[in-house]
Amino acid sequence: MAMMFKFTNVLWCLVSLQALCEGSRLSLTATPDFLTKDITRTLTLRCSLSDTVSPANGTDGNVKYVTSMLVTRNSNNERVAVIDDRSGAKAETDLDSLTVKGDVAHSDPWTTSLPERAYLEMTWTHPGYNQSGGYTCEINAVDLQGHTVVFVSSAEIGLVTATDQDMLDELVRLDSEDQAMKAKLAALEASIATLQPPHAEEGVVKCGDSGSWNRNGNGRYIYKDIRFRKPYLTAPPMVSLAVNTLDAHRNSNLRIHAAVLNVSKQGFRVQCETWDDSHVYEMSMRWTSVVA
Ligand SMILES: *[C@@H]1O[C@H](CO)[C@@H](O)[C@H](O)[C@H]1NC(C)=O
Ligand SMILES: *[C@@H]1O[C@H](CO)[C@@H](O)[C@H](O)[C@H]1NC(C)=O
Ligand SMILES: *[C@@H]1O[C@H](CO)[C@@H](O)[C@H](O)[C@H]1NC(C)=O
Repeated sequence: MAMMFKFTNVLWCLVSLQALCEGSRLSLTATPDFLTKDITRTLTLRCSLSDTVSPANGTDGNVKYVTSMLVTRNSNNERVAVIDDRSGAKAETDLDSLTVKGDVAHSDPWTTSLPERAYLEMTWTHPGYNQSGGYTCEINAVDLQGHTVVFVSSAEIGLVTATDQDMLDELVRLDSEDQAMKAKLAALEASIATLQPPHAEEGVVKCGDSGSWNRNGNGRYIYKDIRFRKPYLTAPPMVSLAVNTLDAHRNSNLRIHAAVLNVSKQGFRVQCETWDDSHVYEMSMRWTSVVA
């Protein structure tokens, strides 16, 4: 049978002026509080400092601010993670498996039961022998009178070897994960199968003979309104034009302009234009629309 260390949590509060650190409380928690070799997937160690005196009773007793937090491991005081009021939370060991977050200027509202003022949270993936052992969290703070206050707490994280039951549980868990993954994949495949291509339409619009177009100074133009075969659902599409047919009188320069106007979800307007002495016998444009 494997040996299991009990998780312990001890709080010392070392202060220059006694009695003043009772208002803030250090908490050091490990989830889980022991590791099963090759089975435990993540380990989270969280050190935090909370206020215990509510503003209704005056905040004297809570710390004024936190300057730094440091977590060390085992008797050689290996530095694990650190945060201070100048730089963010940082891992100092286990760099390939440890992520750290934290805040020393945190302030939860007093609506929560014990509002946190600072925390340092370490999460390891696939923790093992190297992550087991004794951890110490040290918090440096300053009280309302300007004195330095130091909070210290320790926790022991044990390591056990997996039992047959642990292995069995792990197999069951992996199997159910596998089932869930397969179900997700099947749902994904089904939704891909029903995916529609994007809504696109095309057509040709004939502007006809410019001799019959509207006059505007020395220009002539005509509007042609197009309705999409089915309306676009969420927004007006992009519409582009290309010349499809052009037939013009040979005695003058060729001058044409075509524009897309007033695009809506239902349709759009094409303007065909020429000017000066140009005469267009036939001008037709090919249009395409596609979801924007
Ligand atoms: C204030 O202090 C009194 C006496 O210690 C306590 O009973 C009460 O719950 C406190 N009020 C708040 C809001 O913390
Ligand atoms: C455990 O720590 C030792 C010494 O730092 C290192 O050489 C080794 O690679 C670590 N093992 C794992 C599994 O990270
Ligand atoms: C069409 O667009 C023009 C210019 O963009 C605008 O002046 C006109 O009011 C629009 N007409 C309609 C019916 O939306």
